[in-house]
Amino acid sequence: MSSGQVRGVVLAAGQGKRMKSSRPKVLHDVMGKAVLSRVIDAVAAVGVEHLHIVVGHAHEQVENFLAEGANLPPVTYSCHLQKPQLGTGHALLQIADALKDFHGTLIVTVGDAPVIQPEPLQALLAHHHAQKATVTALTTELLDAKNYGRILRDYEGRVRSIVEDKDANSEQKLIREINTGIYALAWPEVSEGLKGLSNNNKQKEYYLTDLVAWAYERGHSAHALVLNDSRQVAGINSRLELAEAIRLLRDVTIEKLALESGVTVVDPLNTWISPEVKIGAETVVLPGCQISGVVEIGAGCQIGPYAVIKGPVKIGERSSVVSSHVNNSTIGSDSRVGPYAHVRDGNVIGDACKIGNFVELKKATVGEHTNVGHLSYIGDASLGSGVNIGAGTITANYDHLTKKKERTVIGDGASTGSNSVLVAPVEMGAESVLAAGTVVGKNVPAGALAVGRAVLKMVEGWSDIRKKQKVK
Ligand code: UD1
Ligand code: CA
Repeated sequence: MSSGQVRGVVLAAGQGKRMKSSRPKVLHDVMGKAVLSRVIDAVAAVGVEHLHIVVGHAHEQVENFLAEGANLPPVTYSCHLQKPQLGTGHALLQIADALKDFHGTLIVTVGDAPVIQPEPLQALLAHHHAQKATVTALTTELLDAKNYGRILRDYEGRVRSIVEDKDANSEQKLIREINTGIYALAWPEVSEGLKGLSNNNKQKEYYLTDLVAWAYERGHSAHALVLNDSRQVAGINSRLELAEAIRLLRDVTIEKLALESGVTVVDPLNTWISPEVKIGAETVVLPGCQISGVVEIGAGCQIGPYAVIKGPVKIGERSSVVSSHVNNSTIGSDSRVGPYAHVRDGNVIGDACKIGNFVELKKATVGEHTNVGHLSYIGDASLGSGVNIGAGTITANYDHLTKKKERTVIGDGASTGSNSVLVAPVEMGAESVLAAGTVVGKNVPAGALAVGRAVLKMVEGWSDIRKKQKVK
């Protein structure tokens, strides 16, 4: 009944037998982030003051992941060991000691529902507080309730209890309102019910779900909030359900982009955008794109068809990325990338640039209005503004003896002819020119022309000479 402070609880101690995996279920990947990270992100986003994470099966792996690889939102957390794992109620009991002095609301969630967004959790909290409830379960209706716990209501429609699929009779199995495994609980009010749970059921487990019947029977207020968007609470118990959850998260993400950000996604079924991606209004995403990680794309861009963009990536406004791969790079406004470009590992491309077909860019800075139009490798290089890189230009950045990468610097307004090679370390001054076919290993002064070609020899009447040779 208390409102006040809110803490989050994530239950992540189970093995996930049905995944048939050596990896704990909660560490499986969902569009570039682990299942557990996705759940934590959503819970943290409702403004909890602390997060309790119950770990058990392969807990070292889960704890290491949280300490090192999880990229957690800014929230304090503690892990609580549950061993052996005797059910979800038993899992929550493991944090009772840590909650000794806590008076407030717990938002408890299963660790295996990675599609969840902050909004339903926020709504659950608001409902729980408005009703001054002891237990509020988040529920939803499914056409196929399969393995979920079913919600039983009394003749007045009040939530009476939750029956697990394995314990349900044939009539109860027809119920389509299911338990999402997400609850708001008044603490310490529910602690008494928690301690009193029994394992008198098919699985011989202490079910957290039995808190609802406990509250109902003792005259505490038990409530349910029905979530319309059932996609967000899909639990993953097998790899098939994992694939399904990834698809659902994709759908939810694209829907938000379309409805809230004004982005056109032409073919949602053939587009994969992860929830971290931000896209500006009027940008069109054409079929076949994969955009994942921390990516920010400005307004009015054209992405795709067939672009793979892996964050961190930032793209300005009105730029296009067509049939290309881009990772860990920044692209300015009004720039064009592709088709068939590979922009990888730390580039900063300015405004109004053109990075054309079969161009690979690595650790390069490219000033505004600079073109690298065709068939080039530009690595470990700084290109000024207004530079023109001729077709087939290569920066030879690697010294195989020292095994070091060296830099190429090209000044403003300089240009390289087709098929020229810059053997790094080397610098071209502003407005200098490399003639086609030149290999340059010395600095080129500003305004100079560097030509390095074999002298052209002309043999007149060559075909006649050849013919005569053959007659002999
Ligand atoms: C649970 C609910 C079910 C609900 C469903 C929603 C119970 C008894 N059942 O069923 O009503 O419809 O989630 O997805 O709560 N866990 C522990 N310790 C344990 C057991 C489980 O931490 O001893 C964790 C798991 O790691 C998992 C979560 O709790 O993240 C749910 O466990 P799981 O075994 O998947 O429960 P379900 O059968 O899916
Ligand atoms: Ca589950």
